[in-house]
Amino acid sequence: MKPETLFSLKDRVAVITGASSGLGVTFAKGLAEAGAAVVLAARRKERLESVAAQIEELGSAALPVECDVTREEDVDRLVQTTVNRFGRLDVLVNNAGIAVVVPAENETPADFRRVLEVNVTAGFLCARSCGRVMLEAGRGSIINIASIMGVVGVGALPQLSYNTSKGAVVNMTRELAAQWAKRGIRVNAIAPGFFPSEMTVGLTDTEEGLRFVRRRTPMRRAGRPEELVGALLLLASDAGSYITGQTIIVDGGWTCV
Ligand SMILES: NC(=O)c1ccc[n+]([C@@H]2O[C@H](COP(=O)([O-])OP(=O)(O)OC[C@H]3O[C@@H](n4cnc5c(N)ncnc54)[C@H](OP(=O)(O)O)[C@@H]3O)[C@@H](O)[C@H]2O)c1
Repeated sequence: MKPETLFSLKDRVAVITGASSGLGVTFAKGLAEAGAAVVLAARRKERLESVAAQIEELGSAALPVECDVTREEDVDRLVQTTVNRFGRLDVLVNNAGIAVVVPAENETPADFRRVLEVNVTAGFLCARSCGRVMLEAGRGSIINIASIMGVVGVGALPQLSYNTSKGAVVNMTRELAAQWAKRGIRVNAIAPGFFPSEMTVGLTDTEEGLRFVRRRTPMRRAGRPEELVGALLLLASDAGSYITGQTIIVDGGWTCV
């Protein structure tokens, strides 16, 4: 198969959560450029509408849907709206996430629970709701956005709840993959290193933050969001048809030393 066919998402429909800012916008544009119609989910509606307009300018269909991914009824409505509009759902990018930076001894149980609720429980809700449609169709690809902090600790950037949640995402990926593999659904994860976004303000846009990232990254720089799109398209498309349960780390070498 030619590469352009192998990686094509023509006629496919993708739901991207957390598509109102940061990496989610890049993921949505990357999937749209590969041919998919994209459904953009997050809480900030005006942001979603602006991203949808940019994608439509590229010539792809984009549907903004206001959705708090921690609310079961919002997630079910997101999936129903997608199926009503497009008649199918092929790809879910479970990207919505939050982080709290605070030493473990000062982290509140409320913050800890909130981070797990958004990063883990909401990911489960989205996978379950989209998974039901995919199981019915006998095909689908779910891509969870984990983090290098789901596979290593950092210490100098104290985020216990975040790192705990991303570790859970890595193993949720394996278990969902194991449960659904024989029914046509692949479930994988991408674990990014450091990329500029609202979440990493202060780290990827200040000299001190960049020094921290450069010092510990073998490639001596933060990532560019578009450098995640290759892994995303591999996992979303038929190019990754025999890959499931895996976490692809895209980190400039952070976790290899
Ligand atoms: N940037 C990095 O270096 C990096 C590294 C590793 C992993 N990641 C992961 O990449 C993902 C995207 O993060 P980002 O860096 O792009 O950060 P970001 O710019 O802060 O984006 C986070 C997105 O999540 C959405 N979100 C948060 N809570 C939500 C909720 N309850 N319901 C619906 N949407 C919600 C936000 O939208 P609304 O506020 O509009 O709802 C926003 O679109 C996260 O899972 C993050 O952990 C990022």
